[in-house]
Amino acid sequence: MSRSPIILALDTDSVDIAGQWISTTRDSIDIYKVGLEFFLKFGHDGLRKLYEFGDFELFLDLKLHDIPNTVKAAVDAVKDLSPRFLTVHASGGAPMISAAAQTAPDISITAVTVLTSISPEVLTEMGIESSPLNLATRLAANAVSAGATSIVCSPLEVARIKEVTQGKALLITPGVRPAGSALGDQSRVMTPRDAITAGSDYLVIGRPITSHFATSPEAMASAAKEILDSLS
Ligand code: C5P
Repeated sequence: MSRSPIILALDTDSVDIAGQWISTTRDSIDIYKVGLEFFLKFGHDGLRKLYEFGDFELFLDLKLHDIPNTVKAAVDAVKDLSPRFLTVHASGGAPMISAAAQTAPDISITAVTVLTSISPEVLTEMGIESSPLNLATRLAANAVSAGATSIVCSPLEVARIKEVTQGKALLITPGVRPAGSALGDQSRVMTPRDAITAGSDYLVIGRPITSHFATSPEAMASAAKEILDSLS
């Protein structure tokens, strides 16, 4: 079990910088998130290079969404990387999520509910009448019944989803910002401590930590440690 609830988002297009971010923050962070940008560019080889910078647990954020047979094959194709978490879109439906979970019982299939970039207006345009909260709750419950063991949701949805999933899934929340830090493109945010108090098990954090690397590695290490310390 990881000791730190922080998952650092390695949002960079450089293997070397991602590696330096890992070695710089490893004292405060155990899990690192690799997303589509990195994986599509560098693939399996790029990921293996990251392990040269230090041992860590992998959150592989590929947000898979396709027919069950294709998702099964995609999960098979990344199984050897042994991610602790692998994301799929909850909106892919129960058969797709079950296919992923059955293919990789040792990986936590992590269902992404409603992207925080989707506003109520965008949902209406898509012909979906639910509010983001109701839709995320419904998707989370459905995903857990189908075999997902972790859920990605907004910190604002975490309390309700915790209740509905009855502790059967780990709740992972992006959109957290320490008090006073820049929002960037995030709009509905909570502080790390408030997100944990609301019921988040893990926090996905990027720029509030990575932006300090431009000042110095020490500044980045301190930013990670300060957030970790704020949680206890
Ligand atoms: O830099 P920041 O802390 O905003 O990074 C948050 C990370 O979480 C990014 O990698 C972003 O893609 C991811 N994410 C998010 N909102 C979601 C799902 C993932 O911000 N709903």
